[in-house]
Amino acid sequence: MRKKIIAGNWKMNKLEADIQTWIADFHQYFTGEPKGIRIAIFPPFTGLGSLRKGLPHYVEVGAQNVSEHLEGAYTGEISATMIADSGANAVLIGHSERRQYHHENNLLLHRKLSIAVQGGLTPYYCVGESQAERQAGDAEHVIRTQLREGMIGLSLSEAEQIVLAYEPVWAIGTGLTASKEDVQKMHHFIRQEVAGLFGINVAENMPILYGGSVTGATAPELLNCPDVDGVLVGGASLKLETFAPIINAGVEA
Ligand code: PGA
Repeated sequence: MRKKIIAGNWKMNKLEADIQTWIADFHQYFTGEPKGIRIAIFPPFTGLGSLRKGLPHYVEVGAQNVSEHLEGAYTGEISATMIADSGANAVLIGHSERRQYHHENNLLLHRKLSIAVQGGLTPYYCVGESQAERQAGDAEHVIRTQLREGMIGLSLSEAEQIVLAYEPVWAIGTGLTASKEDVQKMHHFIRQEVAGLFGINVAENMPILYGGSVTGATAPELLNCPDVDGVLVGGASLKLETFAPIINAGVEA
């Protein structure tokens, strides 16, 4: 059984004081461990240490990006081992905002995936089509290419570490959510693609999250789709008031 994963992507938000408030709120909302799910929070690099210290051990903490290099003369970059050293255990790779604003392509993301796994991090590999690509009927082709070029050549044991996130670009931060039928269809397609690359066992065990304007109102029906193993939440993860209902939807799904 794949456990549901409720993940929060804070993007470039929150200073130290805001982080401490969020941690205090989390302890207020959840006095015991929410049962049967995984929770993961992706703060900016500057918040990794504080979140790891302040949150209960069962909450996973991850970075939003990682260098494709191991170490050395790469000014401004942060390595996988540095992320792990901060106490974090995961990293987002290929979020559409990195693809769009930082020109990250599948080849680069392939290197980042390998280096993340080698550094002991769980990579959350993000894929998603734009509105124009969907309207042109190219959504599956785009997703297949992102999956193949990003993951091909990884060993089975590397592939087993990956969590996938399907985030249609047009649904991110827009208030538009893909319908549960479209989400289920795409997640099923993604699982078949993973099976083609790494075999049915890896595909059956690989968590596939949905992301794009998820709220407490839409989370329950999305989480009940058979191939949706969790949600990656941006805006609604910034406050417990909006994030706690999504965590609870995960427990109930
Ligand atoms: P959103 O962001 O929930 O604000 O749409 C999701 C994401 O970008 O991961």
